[in-house]
Amino acid sequence: MNILNFPERKKGREAIVMVTCYDYTMARIVADSAIDMILVGDSAAMVMHGHDTTLPISVDEMAMHVRAVRRGAPETFVVADLPFLATRKGLEAAMDAVEAVMKAGASAVKIEGIEGQADLVRHIVASGVPVMGHLGLTPQAVNQLGGFRVQGRSEDDRARLMREARECQAAGCFALVLECVPESLAEAITRSLDIVTIGIGAGDRTDGQVLVMHDLLGLTDGFKPKFVRQYMDGRAQVCQALDQYASDVRERAFPAPEERYAG
Ligand code: KIV
Ligand code: NA
Repeated sequence: MNILNFPERKKGREAIVMVTCYDYTMARIVADSAIDMILVGDSAAMVMHGHDTTLPISVDEMAMHVRAVRRGAPETFVVADLPFLATRKGLEAAMDAVEAVMKAGASAVKIEGIEGQADLVRHIVASGVPVMGHLGLTPQAVNQLGGFRVQGRSEDDRARLMREARECQAAGCFALVLECVPESLAEAITRSLDIVTIGIGAGDRTDGQVLVMHDLLGLTDGFKPKFVRQYMDGRAQVCQALDQYASDVRERAFPAPEERYAG
C-alpha cells in the first residue's frame, strides 16, 4: 500500500483492510499477513496501557509505539494517531507532534474531527504529510459525547457529519475513518466522497474496515461492542497455554531432557 493506491482501491471496489498494531512482534506478524495497512491507534492507551479512555497517551508514547511497529513492518503503510489535544495547542505544537510520529516512522497521521482544524490539516498536507480524518464516534471527545455511543442518528447529526466529511476531503485528507455511525450514513458519505472511507462499526459499504487488534484476536476482556468480530478466542488460548506451562513446571514435565543443556 502506498498513498497513490488509495484512489484505485476506491474505483476498484477492493476493500482496504486495516488493523491496529502497537508493538514490534505483532507488526512482524501483520507484515506477513494479508492486511493492507496498520493504524498505530491511540487505543494503545486502553489496550496496551490499561486506561479507560484514549485521553492519557502522550505524543512521545505514540512515537514509541510507531518506532516499534516500524521496526517490525518496514514496508507497511503505517498511520499514526495524533493523541488527545495534540492538534489543539497551536500550529507549532501540532507540527511538533506530526514531526515526532513521522520521524518515528509513520507514513501518515490521523486526526479526530475537522471543526476548527481544517487549516491545520491543509498545512500538514502541504508539508508533505498525508492526513487521515476520523469522524463519528471520536473517542478523544468521549467526555463531550457523553460516552462511547453511536453517532449520526438524528437528522441534524447526519447533516453535520456529511458536511464535516466533505470538509475533511476539501482540507486534503486522503482517507476518512467513520466510527460507530449508522450504515446508511456511512454509505451516503462513502458515495459522496472521492477519498476512501474506512469503517469501524459503520456497516459494510465503506471502502475499507479497521478493527482494534486485541478485539479481533479476542484478547480484550469484558464488554464487546456489537461491531467487533472476534476471529480467535485469544484470551482463552493464551490462558490455556499459561496454565499448561504452570502445570508442566509443577509436575516436572518441563523442561524435558531435550530442553536441557548437558555437561
Ligand atoms: O485508536 C484506534 O484504534 C482508532 C480506530 C478504532 C479507528 O482510532
Ligand atoms: Na484512535
